Amino acid sequence: MRRSRASSRRVMSWDQSSRPAPLDTHPVRVIAGHLRDELRALGRYPPGPSGFSIGRTLRTTRDPLPLLLELYEKHGPVFSFRALHHRLVWMIGPDANQFITVSHPEHFHWREGHLGDLTPLIGDGILTTDGEYHDRARRLMMPAFHQRQLESAIEVMVSETERALEGWAPGQVVDVYEWTRGLALRIAMRALLGLDPDDGDHGAAAAHHFERGLAFYGIDAHLRLLRGPGTPWARLQGARRDLDEIVYAEIARRRRHGAPGRTDVMSALIEAEDEDGSRFSDEEVRDQLVTLMFAGHDTSSSNVAFLLYELARHPDVLDRIRDEERRVLAGDPPSAAQLHGQLPELEMAIDEALRLYPPVWIGARRAVSGFEFAGCEVPEGAYVNYSSWASHRLPHVFPEPEAFKPERFSRERKAALPKGAYIPFGGGSRICIGKRFGQTVVRTVVTLLLQRFHPRLLPGYELRLALEPTLSPRGGLPMVAREEPDRPRRNPPRSGAIRQNRRARGASLGRDRR
Ligand code: HEM
Repeated sequence: MRRSRASSRRVMSWDQSSRPAPLDTHPVRVIAGHLRDELRALGRYPPGPSGFSIGRTLRTTRDPLPLLLELYEKHGPVFSFRALHHRLVWMIGPDANQFITVSHPEHFHWREGHLGDLTPLIGDGILTTDGEYHDRARRLMMPAFHQRQLESAIEVMVSETERALEGWAPGQVVDVYEWTRGLALRIAMRALLGLDPDDGDHGAAAAHHFERGLAFYGIDAHLRLLRGPGTPWARLQGARRDLDEIVYAEIARRRRHGAPGRTDVMSALIEAEDEDGSRFSDEEVRDQLVTLMFAGHDTSSSNVAFLLYELARHPDVLDRIRDEERRVLAGDPPSAAQLHGQLPELEMAIDEALRLYPPVWIGARRAVSGFEFAGCEVPEGAYVNYSSWASHRLPHVFPEPEAFKPERFSRERKAALPKGAYIPFGGGSRICIGKRFGQTVVRTVVTLLLQRFHPRLLPGYELRLALEPTLSPRGGLPMVAREEPDRPRRNPPRSGAIRQNRRARGASLGRDRR
């Protein structure tokens, strides 16, 4: 049922009837719909194995990359296969990525594809809507991601990272993936929601309930089908209710009292006004904020973890990054300008980590009209995926695709890549809205960490991958923190620079996902 709040009524809101219809998430009806759609389009799917196979289904859910590359070799850039009951179309390679994201996005919807599965938690944000509803929301949100907003967010990023690093002692084993997740969530609480992550009734509680909701998407797909009391689905509903209570109360408070001097994204969304004078309703602000939390937090954490993993295995690259940091920063925290342009060794290594392990490894769509690509017909209603992960491992585009070679991303070599070849942030008009925010988080965290510590893998550690909700190290990434031997003496903070939140020490956010 739609929320009716006094504060919403005061807001000149867009015609709410244009809000997308709720999606049916009942598993039985969803599966029946998949089968019906396939029957209608029988004989019109791109080539590939169409029979039911347990082995293929397991490969798809556990280790899809080799399967995708094999089928690409056999059938070319567009193919299909059945996983469990479901026929999926895959489009791989630079031309396919360009077709889906840039030249022919009109054939695709996000909401009716697998991204729609996220609506029970994130609602109707820009990740799960299409058409004019999406475009208007994105237009209203863009200013919240402009340079000026980012510059104030950087203070939050630095102070939170410094605080989090204070807990590290030389020789200690730290799960750097979980550590970064906790840190990224604190940053999101402050920079996106403007909530204090140490306030147990608000910021910390909101983070905890968000994590409880997110846990639903990290469990096995068959458990997600269960309904009824005590099931993961019921826990998701409860988490959403608890989260919403806090978020709606904060929106109402800001509408009542205003938010002078606030630079967080929530305030920017409440203030945002479209050309026709309309603004976001409370419900829209909530959905966009939870969408941003969802899209921004695991992605940045996974990029940090994979980068540290590769740096621990490539001491030469680590040394180059360290030398660059010493030269450019001389022990100071980085500024926005330094992070974006003055640390090319770091940037190249991050780009290469994103190539090998793109956190959003799949771009899920639904074809809303039939089309032809590379000589194959793709029927209306088909579930179509592009995959940055598979595209980034094609040897004719990235020679020695398994090797970690940051030099591939020197300015000249990056510019010479074919269009659509490198797409860790997607592409076209729906390219990641938080790209710069996410890059800034990753660069800040890694820079400050490497200024103090030298991360090492535990002997015998073997990387295993989790696929959902983002590509990440399964079971975490334990590393040994060795203090940097020639650690530069920290210069006193520049005037007006980072104010440490002393109050913040000692408290921690709930982390109960894995
Ligand atoms: C390293 C960090 C990140 C990576 C690798 C990443 C990757 C991506 C990718 C690949 C897409 C497009 C997906 C598709 O085409 O299906 C996307 C979209 C999106 N991302 Fe990110 N992202 C990151 C950080 C962030 C952050 C920090 C935020 C928010 C603060 C964010 C918010 C979004 C949103 C809202 C969309 C949907 C945009 C739209 O449809 O208009 N992302 N991201």
